Amino acid sequence: MRVFVAGATGAIGKQLVPLLVAAGHEVHGMARSESKQAMLYEMGAAPAVADALDPDQVADAVSRARPDVIVHQLTAIGALDTRHFDRDFALTNRLRTEGTDYLLSAGQAMGVRRFVAQSYGAWPYVRTGGPVKSEEDPLDPTPAREMRETLAAIRHLEQAVLGARWTEGIVLRYGAFYGPGTSMAPGGQQFEMVRRRMFPLVGDGGGVWSFIHVADAAEATVAAIKRGRRGIYNIVDDDPAPVAEWLPVLAQQLGAKAPMRVPRFVGRLFAGEAGVVMMTEARGASNAKAKRELGWHPVHSSWRQGFTAA
Ligand SMILES: NC(=O)c1ccc[n+]([C@@H]2O[C@H](COP(=O)([O-])OP(=O)(O)OC[C@H]3O[C@@H](n4cnc5c(N)ncnc54)[C@H](OP(=O)(O)O)[C@@H]3O)[C@@H](O)[C@H]2O)c1
Repeated sequence: MRVFVAGATGAIGKQLVPLLVAAGHEVHGMARSESKQAMLYEMGAAPAVADALDPDQVADAVSRARPDVIVHQLTAIGALDTRHFDRDFALTNRLRTEGTDYLLSAGQAMGVRRFVAQSYGAWPYVRTGGPVKSEEDPLDPTPAREMRETLAAIRHLEQAVLGARWTEGIVLRYGAFYGPGTSMAPGGQQFEMVRRRMFPLVGDGGGVWSFIHVADAAEATVAAIKRGRRGIYNIVDDDPAPVAEWLPVLAQQLGAKAPMRVPRFVGRLFAGEAGVVMMTEARGASNAKAKRELGWHPVHSSWRQGFTAA
């Protein structure tokens, strides 16, 4: 197949493109600047330079590639201060709204058979009921104030992709990435915060997180491109766990002191309501559907062993 990957040079793109090339697909990798062309050639992809927020450039890049499949992996998250969640996600939110719309209309013009898009499957789920959510469960109807725009952008992406009846629209709700090129790797923002004891355990640490190694996320994406059906798939590991469980283990693995414990009101001061919600109320996700329907199984089935391989 001819596969157009938007976001080919990112944390997930760098894992995904070589897998697609190895599987015999003709890959067209989109990047923002000419300077990324060499990296794309090295990965075995044909470079397509375009700004994802310019509809004409996107339409042009897609029409040149004439893809059978479009994969949307565009984000621009950078360093995150959870007190200003929506501010730090502003560009990503544009990529998830405008960027999705431009890719979809470019894809429709070329009659692409499948459109696979990156979504998020950790904190967006409803914060009531059981600790682990399936794709059938609703997203949070009342997100923390600083997360509203970000959740709205996620909803926009999902509804636009699932509503595109002219193609097989597939939404992958990835868990929190760890591994090469992510913020949860040696030198990455989150690992360093844990190492320096700047990632405290807030309240009871009861927020449940679902993780996924980026290499496993890439394998699941290949499976979705091949076998996915219109709909949503949680792409997470087998071991959703409360912060109170994974954070001390990670600290120990990084050779750091045990994380500090702070009450919610202190947590709110330095992590904002968004940070407190993620630490105390978030729900995890189940990968049962992805395993069943995509025939995919994460190699790093638990963060317990996976973090040390990151
Ligand atoms: N599920 C998760 O936990 C999750 C999901 C996403 C990201 N993250 C993490 O967030 C951190 C930061 O990642 P990031 O958001 O900076 O993503 P990234 O991994 O650097 O990838 C972003 C991709 O989108 C492309 N892109 C962004 N804006 C574009 C534009 N206007 N036009 C064309 N292409 C554009 C980038 O191209 P260029 O290379 O040309 O800039 C790159 O290929 C990483 O630690 C990552 O692991 C986590």
